[in-house]
Amino acid sequence: MSSFAKDISISSRPSVSTSPVLTFVSQGSFSGYSGPRSYSSLPPKPLKPFDHSDVKILLLENVNQSGKDILTAQGYQVECLKTSLPEDQLVEKIRQVCPNEDVHVIGIRSKTKLTAKVLREAKNLLVVGCFCIGTNQVDLDYAAHHGIAVFNSPFANSRSVAELVVGEIISLARQLGDRSNELHAGTWNKVSSKCWEIRGKTLGIIGYGHIGSQLSVLAEAMGMNVIYYDVVNLMALGTANQVPTLNDLLNQADFITLHVPGGDDTANMISTAQFEQMKTGSYLINASRGTVVDIPALIKAMRTGKIAGAAIDVYPNEPVANGPYFNSELNTWAEDLRTLSNIILTPHIGGSTEEAQRAIGVEVGDALVRYINQGITLGSVNLPEVSLRALTLEEPNYARVIYIHHNVPGVLRKVNEILGDHNVEKQLSDSRGDVAYLMADINDVKASEIKDITDSLNSLSSRIMTRVLF
Ligand SMILES: NC(=O)c1ccc[n+]([C@@H]2O[C@H](COP(=O)([O-])OP(=O)(O)OC[C@H]3O[C@@H](n4cnc5c(N)ncnc54)[C@H](O)[C@@H]3O)[C@@H](O)[C@H]2O)c1
Repeated sequence: MSSFAKDISISSRPSVSTSPVLTFVSQGSFSGYSGPRSYSSLPPKPLKPFDHSDVKILLLENVNQSGKDILTAQGYQVECLKTSLPEDQLVEKIRQVCPNEDVHVIGIRSKTKLTAKVLREAKNLLVVGCFCIGTNQVDLDYAAHHGIAVFNSPFANSRSVAELVVGEIISLARQLGDRSNELHAGTWNKVSSKCWEIRGKTLGIIGYGHIGSQLSVLAEAMGMNVIYYDVVNLMALGTANQVPTLNDLLNQADFITLHVPGGDDTANMISTAQFEQMKTGSYLINASRGTVVDIPALIKAMRTGKIAGAAIDVYPNEPVANGPYFNSELNTWAEDLRTLSNIILTPHIGGSTEEAQRAIGVEVGDALVRYINQGITLGSVNLPEVSLRALTLEEPNYARVIYIHHNVPGVLRKVNEILGDHNVEKQLSDSRGDVAYLMADINDVKASEIKDITDSLNSLSSRIMTRVLF
């Protein structure tokens, strides 16, 4: 059996959380992913653009072991660094790892900047794995226009955020933060006034996506009534109810929690006018984006007693490193916020758990393997998402042609002229902006013909990158 076929068995995978509204190919997937449909019980045919030991991968920033394991189990050459590298050192490293042959894959987390300059230096780069949520650190446009796919893991920490919010709901209702701080300072302050059970209270979820919907299930299990507001009509889980307007939610909920994206549409979506709509003595939780809540308005609402407690995990400006930086220089209102009672302030840790890191490692590791071995772009943030079912061992004389090209008229005609002497069994093409991705499985291909096909495709003016897997 070739090194390619060394799949990790699913049972040996770390257990990872899943979302009830899972919409991505992730935890259930594995390196031998066979595409959306499988017509054969045979295992997928190992495709090989080159020997797997030739695939060179540079992982920075201490990528989780789960991701490293998936890649090394494939037989790829994986070098791991514990830290990020600044631009000049990164360029040097890319050259050093493989003299005369650049890396094929770079794996990073949020600190490594993959600028156009760095990407330009990595001449053989096929794909970037961001073992994190965001992809701002990568020049996605440059990558797409040079045929470099970029993958990330946007939802692997949903469960972690939902669980944090559950903890915060109870902590706020019982004023746990204040009692704990008092006792740390030596003060015994046993009170029951304005401390509540959460059973029977109404939780209002704004944004019923991956996190909001997961939280909905957990909150109901604790006896809460759940209502939610979302710009999209979404099927309720359990006995939750969608309300038609934001004000309906603000008027009815005892606890309000935000799970919307950042951006212009949600900037300051909770401000003075919204606090006025909320019940007196209600609670606010924000673990979404720092721009969503108008913090000075929150400070006022808490000082008047309108809001009985709040938990904030995200801020308009956040320090770039750990340390004593949460001050008025960073955000003018920081000192005021810190002095309020019954407010839980956490440093953007909603998704920061071991489980989430492992799940991210698995999701991105799998995506890289699928892309390297089969050219499948599902989950890519910068290339069109295209997937063909895996070739099987019943299909020995097949080749998979991947042609990444400028999205201009006439390309398909020219490509099909080149492929036309072979039987094109399946072909899919999609575009994203001015970059298009074509995959075709052709049969009756002799190994000697592969080079001709590759050369012919490479000679087309529309070409960005050609890969032929066989
Ligand atoms: N604190 C953390 O560490 C942490 C970790 C993960 C995610 N997040 C943040 O949590 C938020 C939610 O993440 P998710 O994975 O559930 O996202 P998601 O995309 O799955 O869900 C977002 C939901 O919000 C809805 N929505 C969008 N605009 C809206 C609006 N104006 N009003 C009401 N609903 C609106 C969408 O329709 C969608 O259902 C994001 O901002 C994400 O960045 C924070």
